[in-house]
Amino acid sequence: MTTGIGQEFIKRTKYRYLGPSDQERRLPQPPMEKAFEEEGEWIRLPDPGEEAPDLKEIIDGRTSVRNYTDAPISLQDLSYLLWCTQGVKEVAGAQATLRTVPSAGARHAIETYLLVNRVYGLPPGLYQYRSLEHQLQEFTLYDGIADMILEAGLKQRHITGSAVTFIWAATAYRMTWRYGERGYRYLFLDVGHVCQNLYLAAESIGCGVCAIAAFDDDRMNELLHLDGKEEFVLYLATLGAKVQGLK
Ligand SMILES: Cc1cc2nc3c(=O)[nH]c(=O)nc-3n(C[C@H](O)[C@H](O)[C@H](O)COP(=O)(O)O)c2cc1C
Repeated sequence: MTTGIGQEFIKRTKYRYLGPSDQERRLPQPPMEKAFEEEGEWIRLPDPGEEAPDLKEIIDGRTSVRNYTDAPISLQDLSYLLWCTQGVKEVAGAQATLRTVPSAGARHAIETYLLVNRVYGLPPGLYQYRSLEHQLQEFTLYDGIADMILEAGLKQRHITGSAVTFIWAATAYRMTWRYGERGYRYLFLDVGHVCQNLYLAAESIGCGVCAIAAFDDDRMNELLHLDGKEEFVLYLATLGAKVQGLK
């Protein structure tokens, strides 16, 4: 049995060890979305469209898929996938957003980055999804970025074989402002919901997904200009059109 940091984390985030949160101390709420960088083009995404496949069939068909065809996906499909994973359905005052996924206290402390390898109309590179605006913002179109993400992803080839790799990062204070240290648990729970929606939405349009939790944290954070403390990568998922009969 292990008695290391994992158990310590579960113990120390129990209610009995928590002091008042910053919200309870009446400190101002952090923003609902990360501040914009001045640089980087904005890309308006098309309407996510209407998909109405059978949910049971989709859940039944879902598996992790690591091999994809070379076919690019459309911007419309990407828009649909982003909406299904982080789409904002309602902005409740200046306090919270209600999205297509649940989130503890509607904190939605996750930002979505995309490594685009093959999407019609988008130059390959790293992008950030602006959920409030339902738009993409260029992050870097540096030529070698896909290989760098591949390295940071411990050389899992489906990262560069994908049409798109989703990278989800926490903005921790958006969550801990309300829940203190316990909020760290919720970040990981929240991102699981996001990834599951990606699996199911992808299945509904003939695409496959594979979740990735094995990556070099420091390197991945560095590539996304995240400090690894206030902001850090939680999870990735590769996605592309399925090759029939291959996983
Ligand atoms: C939290 C989590 C982390 C995972 N990390 C990886 C990973 O780093 N690389 C990978 O190829 N698959 C990864 N997977 C995919 C699992 O291997 C896969 O879900 C599992 O083998 C069950 O197969 P299924 O998804 O087809 O049902 C991960 C899945 C989860 C839920």
